[in-house]
Amino acid sequence: MTAATARAHANIALVKYWGKRDAALNLPAAGSLSLTLAALTTTTTVRFDPRLPRDELTLDGAAAPATRVSAWLDLVRARAGIDHRASVTSTNDFPTASGLASSASAYAALAVAATAAAGIQLDRGALSELARRGSGSAARSIFGGFVEMGVTRAAPVPNADGWDVRMVIAVVDGGVAKQISSRDAMDRCAASSPLYAAWLATVPGDLRAARAAIRAGDLDALGRVAQGSALAMHAAALATRPSIRYLRPTTLAVLDVVDQLDHAYFTIDAGPHVKVLTSPDRADDVADRLRAIHGVSHVLISGPGGPAHLVSPR
Ligand code: PMV
Repeated sequence: MTAATARAHANIALVKYWGKRDAALNLPAAGSLSLTLAALTTTTTVRFDPRLPRDELTLDGAAAPATRVSAWLDLVRARAGIDHRASVTSTNDFPTASGLASSASAYAALAVAATAAAGIQLDRGALSELARRGSGSAARSIFGGFVEMGVTRAAPVPNADGWDVRMVIAVVDGGVAKQISSRDAMDRCAASSPLYAAWLATVPGDLRAARAAIRAGDLDALGRVAQGSALAMHAAALATRPSIRYLRPTTLAVLDVVDQLDHAYFTIDAGPHVKVLTSPDRADDVADRLRAIHGVSHVLISGPGGPAHLVSPR
Protein backbone atom coordinates (compact mmCIF):
# COMPACT_ATOMS: atom_id res chain seq x y z
CA MET A 1 0.00 0.00 0.00
CA THR A 2 1.28 3.47 -0.80
CA ALA A 3 1.33 6.42 1.55
CA ALA A 4 -0.45 9.62 0.62
CA THR A 5 -0.01 13.15 1.94
CA ALA A 6 -2.63 15.89 1.75
CA ARG A 7 -2.98 19.48 2.89
CA ALA A 8 -6.07 21.41 3.96
CA HIS A 9 -6.83 24.79 5.50
CA ALA A 10 -9.02 25.61 8.48
CA ASN A 11 -12.18 27.60 7.87
CA ILE A 12 -14.07 30.12 9.95
CA ALA A 13 -17.86 30.11 9.78
CA LEU A 14 -19.58 33.42 9.01
CA VAL A 15 -22.99 31.77 9.36
CA LYS A 16 -22.45 29.24 12.13
CA TYR A 17 -23.12 25.52 12.32
CA TRP A 18 -24.41 24.70 15.80
CA GLY A 19 -26.54 21.58 16.28
CA LYS A 20 -27.21 18.29 14.51
CA ARG A 21 -30.24 16.61 13.03
CA ASP A 22 -28.57 13.17 13.03
CA ALA A 23 -25.78 12.36 15.48
CA ALA A 24 -24.76 9.00 13.95
CA LEU A 25 -24.29 10.47 10.46
CA ASN A 26 -23.14 13.82 11.86
CA LEU A 27 -25.71 15.69 9.76
CA PRO A 28 -26.15 19.36 10.63
CA ALA A 29 -29.52 20.74 11.77
CA ALA A 30 -29.08 23.65 9.34
CA GLY A 31 -26.71 24.98 6.71
CA SER A 32 -23.64 27.13 7.39
CA LEU A 33 -21.26 29.35 5.43
CA SER A 34 -17.53 29.86 5.91
CA LEU A 35 -14.29 31.30 4.62
CA THR A 36 -11.33 28.92 4.15
CA LEU A 37 -8.13 30.49 5.53
CA ALA A 38 -4.71 30.29 3.85
CA ALA A 39 -2.80 30.94 7.09
CA LEU A 40 -4.02 27.87 9.03
CA THR A 41 -2.85 24.65 7.40
CA THR A 42 -2.82 20.97 8.34
CA THR A 43 -0.62 18.46 6.49
CA THR A 44 -1.46 14.78 6.96
CA THR A 45 0.14 11.55 5.78
CA VAL A 46 -1.76 8.24 5.82
CA ARG A 47 -0.24 4.82 5.21
CA PHE A 48 -2.29 1.62 5.34
CA ASP A 49 0.03 -1.15 6.50
CA PRO A 50 -0.83 -4.88 6.82
CA ARG A 51 1.77 -5.25 9.60
CA LEU A 52 0.14 -2.73 11.94
CA PRO A 53 -1.92 -4.27 14.79
CA ARG A 54 -3.94 -1.06 15.28
CA ASP A 55 -4.37 2.46 13.88
CA GLU A 56 -1.70 4.91 15.05
CA LEU A 57 -1.95 8.69 15.26
CA THR A 58 0.93 11.16 15.60
CA LEU A 59 -0.15 14.76 16.11
CA ASP A 60 2.45 17.53 15.87
CA GLY A 61 5.19 15.01 16.63
CA ALA A 62 3.56 13.27 19.63
CA ALA A 63 1.56 10.03 19.83
CA ALA A 64 -2.14 10.78 20.35
CA PRO A 65 -5.26 8.66 21.07
CA ALA A 66 -6.53 7.25 17.77
CA THR A 67 -10.06 6.16 18.79
CA ARG A 68 -11.99 8.85 16.90
CA VAL A 69 -9.73 8.73 13.84
CA SER A 70 -9.90 4.93 13.87
CA ALA A 71 -13.72 4.91 13.79
CA TRP A 72 -13.58 7.38 10.90
CA LEU A 73 -10.97 5.29 9.02
CA ASP A 74 -13.43 2.36 9.18
CA LEU A 75 -15.61 4.33 6.72
CA VAL A 76 -12.70 4.51 4.25
CA ARG A 77 -11.79 0.85 4.76
CA ALA A 78 -15.41 -0.19 4.11
CA ARG A 79 -15.53 1.87 0.91
CA ALA A 80 -12.16 0.62 -0.34
CA GLY A 81 -12.76 -2.99 0.70
CA ILE A 82 -9.54 -3.17 2.69
CA ASP A 83 -8.88 -4.25 6.26
CA HIS A 84 -5.41 -2.86 6.97
CA ARG A 85 -4.72 -0.57 9.91
CA ALA A 86 -3.15 2.80 9.19
CA SER A 87 -0.55 5.15 10.55
CA VAL A 88 -1.65 8.78 10.43
CA THR A 89 0.83 11.62 10.91
CA SER A 90 -0.58 15.13 11.10
CA THR A 91 1.04 18.51 11.65
CA ASN A 92 -0.44 21.99 11.97
CA ASP A 93 1.48 25.10 10.90
CA PHE A 94 -0.17 26.98 13.78
CA PRO A 95 0.42 26.11 17.45
CA THR A 96 -1.92 23.27 18.48
CA ALA A 97 -1.93 24.69 22.01
CA SER A 98 -3.26 28.02 20.72
CA GLY A 99 -6.77 26.60 20.77
CA LEU A 100 -7.12 27.51 17.09
CA ALA A 101 -6.43 23.92 16.10
CA SER A 102 -9.56 23.01 14.33
CA SER A 103 -10.93 19.62 13.45
CA ALA A 104 -11.95 21.18 10.11
CA SER A 105 -8.53 21.19 8.45
CA ALA A 106 -7.70 17.89 10.20
CA TYR A 107 -10.57 15.84 8.77
CA ALA A 108 -10.44 17.55 5.36
CA ALA A 109 -6.73 16.68 4.97
CA LEU A 110 -7.41 13.20 6.34
CA ALA A 111 -10.24 12.59 3.85
CA VAL A 112 -8.02 13.48 0.88
CA ALA A 113 -4.97 11.56 2.18
CA ALA A 114 -6.80 8.44 3.40
CA THR A 115 -8.85 7.92 0.23
CA ALA A 116 -5.73 8.33 -1.93
CA ALA A 117 -3.75 5.93 0.29
CA ALA A 118 -6.61 3.41 0.11
CA GLY A 119 -6.65 3.69 -3.68
CA ILE A 120 -10.16 5.12 -4.07
CA GLN A 121 -11.14 8.19 -6.05
CA LEU A 122 -13.98 10.40 -4.85
CA ASP A 123 -15.21 13.69 -6.26
CA ARG A 124 -15.09 16.78 -4.02
CA GLY A 125 -18.73 16.45 -3.00
CA ALA A 126 -18.20 12.87 -1.81
CA LEU A 127 -14.97 13.91 -0.03
CA SER A 128 -16.95 16.66 1.70
CA GLU A 129 -19.49 14.09 2.95
CA LEU A 130 -16.70 11.85 4.18
CA ALA A 131 -14.95 14.74 5.98
CA ARG A 132 -18.31 15.65 7.58
CA ARG A 133 -18.42 12.26 9.30
CA GLY A 134 -15.25 13.29 11.18
CA SER A 135 -16.37 16.84 11.94
CA GLY A 136 -19.21 18.96 10.59
CA SER A 137 -17.02 21.96 9.86
CA ALA A 138 -14.50 19.76 7.97
CA ALA A 139 -17.01 19.28 5.15
CA ARG A 140 -16.42 22.95 4.29
CA SER A 141 -12.58 22.77 4.29
CA ILE A 142 -12.63 20.50 1.21
CA PHE A 143 -13.27 23.69 -0.77
CA GLY A 144 -11.42 27.01 -0.93
CA GLY A 145 -12.70 30.58 -0.52
CA PHE A 146 -16.32 31.10 0.53
CA VAL A 147 -18.11 27.78 1.08
CA GLU A 148 -21.67 26.85 1.97
CA MET A 149 -22.58 23.65 3.80
CA GLY A 150 -25.86 22.19 2.59
CA VAL A 151 -27.91 19.21 3.73
CA THR A 152 -25.11 16.61 3.47
CA ARG A 153 -22.13 18.26 1.78
CA ALA A 154 -20.54 21.62 1.11
CA ALA A 155 -20.05 23.57 -2.15
CA PRO A 156 -18.22 26.78 -3.12
CA VAL A 157 -20.09 30.11 -3.04
CA PRO A 158 -19.37 32.37 -6.04
CA ASN A 159 -18.05 35.78 -5.00
CA ALA A 160 -17.92 39.12 -6.79
CA ASP A 161 -15.10 39.33 -9.37
CA GLY A 162 -11.80 40.52 -7.95
CA TRP A 163 -13.22 40.90 -4.44
CA ASP A 164 -10.85 40.04 -1.60
CA VAL A 165 -11.13 39.97 2.18
CA ARG A 166 -8.95 39.31 5.23
CA MET A 167 -9.52 37.58 8.53
CA VAL A 168 -7.56 38.96 11.48
CA ILE A 169 -7.34 36.41 14.29
CA ALA A 170 -6.81 37.52 17.89
CA VAL A 171 -5.65 34.67 20.13
CA VAL A 172 -7.03 35.45 23.58
CA ASP A 173 -5.48 34.63 26.98
CA GLY A 174 -2.71 32.52 25.49
CA GLY A 175 -5.34 30.24 24.05
CA VAL A 176 -6.35 28.31 27.17
CA ALA A 177 -7.69 24.84 26.42
CA LYS A 178 -11.39 24.98 25.69
CA GLN A 179 -13.57 23.81 28.53
CA ILE A 180 -16.04 21.89 26.39
CA SER A 181 -15.73 20.60 22.83
CA SER A 182 -18.00 22.05 20.14
CA ARG A 183 -19.34 18.53 19.62
CA ASP A 184 -20.56 18.17 23.24
CA ALA A 185 -21.55 21.82 23.55
CA MET A 186 -23.92 21.86 20.57
CA ASP A 187 -25.63 18.67 21.75
CA ARG A 188 -26.13 20.08 25.26
CA CYS A 189 -27.32 23.38 23.80
CA ALA A 190 -29.89 21.64 21.56
CA ALA A 191 -31.08 19.56 24.52
CA SER A 192 -31.51 22.29 27.14
CA SER A 193 -31.17 25.84 25.81
CA PRO A 194 -34.51 27.70 25.64
CA LEU A 195 -32.91 29.78 22.87
CA TYR A 196 -31.82 26.88 20.64
CA ALA A 197 -34.93 26.98 18.43
CA ALA A 198 -34.62 30.76 18.11
CA TRP A 199 -30.96 30.40 17.10
CA LEU A 200 -31.82 27.80 14.42
CA ALA A 201 -34.53 30.08 13.03
CA THR A 202 -31.88 32.73 12.25
CA VAL A 203 -29.91 30.46 9.89
CA PRO A 204 -31.94 30.46 6.62
CA GLY A 205 -32.22 34.26 6.49
CA ASP A 206 -28.57 34.72 7.43
CA LEU A 207 -27.52 32.30 4.68
CA ARG A 208 -29.55 34.22 2.08
CA ALA A 209 -28.11 37.55 3.22
CA ALA A 210 -24.53 36.17 3.31
CA ARG A 211 -24.82 34.70 -0.20
CA ALA A 212 -26.14 38.01 -1.56
CA ALA A 213 -23.36 39.98 0.18
CA ILE A 214 -20.67 37.66 -1.22
CA ARG A 215 -22.14 37.88 -4.72
CA ALA A 216 -22.15 41.68 -4.46
CA GLY A 217 -18.74 41.93 -2.76
CA ASP A 218 -20.34 43.85 0.12
CA LEU A 219 -18.03 43.50 3.14
CA ASP A 220 -20.23 45.52 5.49
CA ALA A 221 -23.35 43.48 4.71
CA LEU A 222 -21.45 40.19 5.11
CA GLY A 223 -19.81 41.40 8.32
CA ARG A 224 -23.14 42.36 9.90
CA VAL A 225 -24.59 38.93 9.12
CA ALA A 226 -21.49 37.22 10.55
CA GLN A 227 -21.66 39.17 13.82
CA GLY A 228 -25.35 38.49 14.19
CA SER A 229 -24.94 34.77 13.55
CA ALA A 230 -22.09 34.41 16.05
CA LEU A 231 -23.95 36.35 18.73
CA ALA A 232 -27.14 34.31 18.24
CA MET A 233 -25.14 31.09 18.53
CA HIS A 234 -23.39 32.27 21.69
CA ALA A 235 -26.66 33.54 23.17
CA ALA A 236 -28.13 30.05 22.74
CA ALA A 237 -24.97 28.53 24.26
CA LEU A 238 -25.03 30.95 27.22
CA ALA A 239 -28.64 30.02 27.96
CA THR A 240 -27.84 26.28 28.00
CA ARG A 241 -28.53 24.74 31.40
CA PRO A 242 -25.87 24.64 32.83
CA SER A 243 -24.41 27.54 30.84
CA ILE A 244 -21.77 27.15 28.12
CA ARG A 245 -19.56 30.24 28.15
CA TYR A 246 -16.75 30.56 25.65
CA LEU A 247 -16.57 34.34 25.96
CA ARG A 248 -13.77 35.46 28.31
CA PRO A 249 -13.34 39.00 29.67
CA THR A 250 -10.65 39.63 27.02
CA THR A 251 -13.02 38.34 24.32
CA LEU A 252 -15.53 41.04 25.30
CA ALA A 253 -12.78 43.68 25.40
CA VAL A 254 -11.86 42.75 21.81
CA LEU A 255 -15.50 43.03 20.69
CA ASP A 256 -15.68 46.56 22.18
CA VAL A 257 -12.61 47.59 20.16
CA VAL A 258 -13.91 46.00 16.93
CA ASP A 259 -17.15 47.97 17.35
CA GLN A 260 -15.10 51.17 17.08
CA LEU A 261 -13.31 50.14 13.87
CA ASP A 262 -14.59 50.84 10.36
CA HIS A 263 -15.26 47.89 8.06
CA ALA A 264 -14.30 45.33 10.70
CA TYR A 265 -16.68 42.64 11.99
CA PHE A 266 -16.13 39.92 14.57
CA THR A 267 -17.02 36.28 14.85
CA ILE A 268 -16.33 33.82 17.70
CA ASP A 269 -16.31 30.02 17.74
CA ALA A 270 -16.18 27.42 20.50
CA GLY A 271 -13.33 29.20 22.29
CA PRO A 272 -12.29 32.65 23.55
CA HIS A 273 -10.55 33.85 20.37
CA VAL A 274 -11.95 36.54 18.09
CA LYS A 275 -11.76 36.47 14.29
CA VAL A 276 -12.29 39.79 12.53
CA LEU A 277 -13.48 40.05 8.93
CA THR A 278 -12.11 43.11 7.19
CA SER A 279 -10.76 44.38 3.86
CA PRO A 280 -7.13 43.81 2.72
CA ASP A 281 -6.26 47.52 3.11
CA ARG A 282 -7.63 47.64 6.69
CA ALA A 283 -6.06 44.39 7.95
CA ASP A 284 -2.74 45.76 9.28
CA ASP A 285 -4.44 48.55 11.18
CA VAL A 286 -7.03 46.15 12.66
CA ALA A 287 -4.21 43.79 13.70
CA ASP A 288 -2.32 46.64 15.43
CA ARG A 289 -5.44 47.65 17.36
CA LEU A 290 -6.07 44.08 18.51
CA ARG A 291 -2.42 43.54 19.53
CA ALA A 292 -2.67 46.52 21.88
CA ILE A 293 -5.44 44.87 23.94
CA HIS A 294 -4.32 43.39 27.26
CA GLY A 295 -4.86 39.62 27.22
CA VAL A 296 -4.48 39.25 23.45
CA SER A 297 -1.39 37.06 23.14
CA HIS A 298 -1.03 36.72 19.41
CA VAL A 299 -2.55 38.20 16.23
CA LEU A 300 -2.37 36.83 12.74
CA ILE A 301 -3.78 37.93 9.39
CA SER A 302 -5.06 35.48 6.79
CA GLY A 303 -6.40 35.76 3.29
CA PRO A 304 -8.72 33.19 1.68
CA GLY A 305 -7.21 29.72 1.29
CA GLY A 306 -7.57 27.17 -1.49
CA PRO A 307 -9.17 23.72 -1.45
CA ALA A 308 -7.86 20.59 0.28
CA HIS A 309 -5.42 18.86 -2.05
CA LEU A 310 -3.08 15.93 -2.46
CA VAL A 311 0.61 16.76 -1.97
CA SER A 312 1.91 13.29 -2.84
CA PRO A 313 1.55 11.18 -4.86
CA ARG A 314 0.56 13.80 -7.39
O1 PMV B 1 -17.77 20.44 13.43
P1 PMV B 1 -17.14 21.05 14.61
O2 PMV B 1 -17.17 20.15 15.80
O3 PMV B 1 -15.77 21.59 14.28
O4 PMV B 1 -18.08 22.31 15.04
C1 PMV B 1 -17.91 23.62 14.58
C2 PMV B 1 -18.62 24.59 15.45
C3 PMV B 1 -18.27 26.05 15.25
O5 PMV B 1 -16.90 26.21 14.97
C4 PMV B 1 -18.58 26.79 16.55
C5 PMV B 1 -19.11 26.71 14.16
C6 PMV B 1 -18.74 26.37 12.73
O6 PMV B 1 -19.65 26.43 11.89
O7 PMV B 1 -17.57 26.11 12.44
